[in-house]
Amino acid sequence: ASTLGAQAAQSGRYFGTAVAAGRLGDGTYTGILDREFNSVTPENEMKWDATEPSRGSFNFGPADQIANRAQAGGKRLRGHTLVWHSQLPGWVSSIRDANTLRGVMNNHITTVMNRYKGRIHSWDVVNEAFADGPSGQLRSSVFRDVLGNGFIEQAFRTARSADPAAKLCYNDYNIENWSDAKTQGVYRMVRDFKARGVPIDCVGLQAHFGTGGPPASFQSTLSNFAALGVDVQITELDIAQASPTAYANTVRACMNVARCTGITVWGIRDSDSWRASENPLLFDRGGNKKPAYNAALTTLGGT
Ligand code: G3I
Repeated sequence: ASTLGAQAAQSGRYFGTAVAAGRLGDGTYTGILDREFNSVTPENEMKWDATEPSRGSFNFGPADQIANRAQAGGKRLRGHTLVWHSQLPGWVSSIRDANTLRGVMNNHITTVMNRYKGRIHSWDVVNEAFADGPSGQLRSSVFRDVLGNGFIEQAFRTARSADPAAKLCYNDYNIENWSDAKTQGVYRMVRDFKARGVPIDCVGLQAHFGTGGPPASFQSTLSNFAALGVDVQITELDIAQASPTAYANTVRACMNVARCTGITVWGIRDSDSWRASENPLLFDRGGNKKPAYNAALTTLGGT
């Protein structure tokens, strides 16, 4: 096939992009979106500050715009994200009582998941809960500090009840290199969840890479997670300067792992990227395909 989504679909995978509701009026943007991708992740619109800016008062306008657009285009939808220390409204981060915070977290998960029930193939239930550096432990956040380490398990159990059909993912960055302490920490958590029957279906590796692209161990990391009995997904791919080789290496690693079910790039054109100055994406500012695009398509098996 001649597009990323159609070619990925030939092996049962998806090839998606992050989408910003504010860009849906841009015809160049939507033209590429409609043509190339078969999965969509809202870049910011399903985050807590967007969906529940004050307690119990939910706003789904921008998220609905993206969800409806995805559905109209026959694309899958990834949910991003339910429990994250960042883009979290102040009213949540200032809660100090465990029972209150547990109720607030469970209500948020349940309400947002119910809104999109049956329409989301995978949810990033918990995002970026592990610390950077050598500890391999959870980072400090209102969730960990008030609820304890068990908040992640609680969030996944609540999510499974809310939408039993959605795949439930743990999503993080800098877990692509197998020997890193952070990777090992996430691996131990997933192994423990599977051993104890805590519902988890997938690990999202964000894959925000530097110029060299993925570490040499990337494919091993994917297959090691998969061997625990979860799917793996590349959820936020971008690569500084977008070298074709670096993109090819990333796509190849996924293609070589049966349980790597899809790849999402974190934006369409370089100008749409959160790291725009590094030109990390597959399309240039004018919406033209870059050499990295051809590398990705060819590695998927397309022409
Ligand atoms: O919407 C407001 C606007 O009203 C305001 O005028 C403007 C002024 O700064 O800010 C706008 O919000 C910005 C928002 O993007 C929407 O554009 C925020 O400041 C800005 O911080 C936010 O950045 C997002 C970032 O997450 C926040 O953490 C990026 O777009 C988004 O790409 C990025 O995505 C994250 C993933 O969710 C998780 N993994 C890392 C990844 C990259 O940081």
